[in-house]
Amino acid sequence: MDLLDQDAVLQSLATPLSERLSLTVLDEVDSTNAEVLRQIAAGAKNIPIVIADCQTAGRGRRGRVWQSPRGENLYLSMGLTFHGGFGVLDGLSLVLGVAVANALEQLGVPAVRLKWHNDIFLPSGKLGGILVELQGELEEGVVQVIAGIGLNVHMSRAEGVDQPWSSLAMACPEIEWSRNQIAAAIVEAILDAVAAFSDVGFRYFREPWQKRDLFMGESLRARGGEIEGVGCGIDDQGNYQIRTAEGVVPVRAGEISLRVVP
Ligand code: BTN
Repeated sequence: MDLLDQDAVLQSLATPLSERLSLTVLDEVDSTNAEVLRQIAAGAKNIPIVIADCQTAGRGRRGRVWQSPRGENLYLSMGLTFHGGFGVLDGLSLVLGVAVANALEQLGVPAVRLKWHNDIFLPSGKLGGILVELQGELEEGVVQVIAGIGLNVHMSRAEGVDQPWSSLAMACPEIEWSRNQIAAAIVEAILDAVAAFSDVGFRYFREPWQKRDLFMGESLRARGGEIEGVGCGIDDQGNYQIRTAEGVVPVRAGEISLRVVP
C-alpha cells in the first residue's frame, strides 16, 4: 500500500518551503485543479497545493477526461501567482515539464522525455501530463495559474486509453515508489523552476527542454498536413520548429497538435 499522507509530504520538503505552502490531501475530489481554484476564490494566502487519492472528474487537455483511479497514481495541483500580466506566462507549460522531468530523474527514472508541449514520456509511452489553467486578473497584473500534474505511478491497467502509456512501477520496478515522496520532489522542483522562470524568463529552460525532446529528428506533420518536415526543437518563445523544404517553420502552442508521420 502506498497511502497519501500530508505529514509525509511536508516532512520530505525543506522547512522554509513547507511554511510557504498550504497543502490539502484529499481522499476524493472532482478535480484537484478545480479544488485549487476554489481555494484561490476563497482567498488562499499561501501557495495552495492539492493532492487527491482519486478524482471523479479528472480533466485532461483539450477537454479530455483524465482517468484517475483510486490509490494508483499522483493527482497534484498547485496555485502559482505571477506578476506582470498574461504575457509573462509564455513558455510556462514547458518550464513545468522540465521541472517534472528533473524531479523524476532525481528519483532515479532514466530517459524522461518531453513531448511538445507538455506531456511526460518514457520510451514505453506516456507517463503523465500537465494541465495549465488560468484564472483572470483579480488584481491588475496579478495572474493565477493552476498547474495540474497527473502521473501514472502504480497503474498496471487502463481501459479506454487510446495511446501507448507507461507507469513508474512498470518502467522502474526496482524502486519502491512512494506518492508522498514523488509529490514532494515535484513540488520542490516546480517552485525552483518557477522562481528561475520569474527571474530570467524562458531562455534558461530552452536547452533542458530540448535535450528531452521526443520529436527531435522525427518526421512530423502539423496544421492538418499543411506543414511537413523534421522536428528540430523549440525556439526562444517555446514554439516548436519543423525543418521543411522551405526552411524552419515555428508551430505555436495551442495552434495545432503535432503528429508523427506514420
Ligand atoms: C493531459 O491531458 O495530458 C493533462 C492531464 C492532467 C491531469 C492532471 S491530474 C491532476 C490535475 N487535476 C485535473 O483534473 N487534471 C490535472
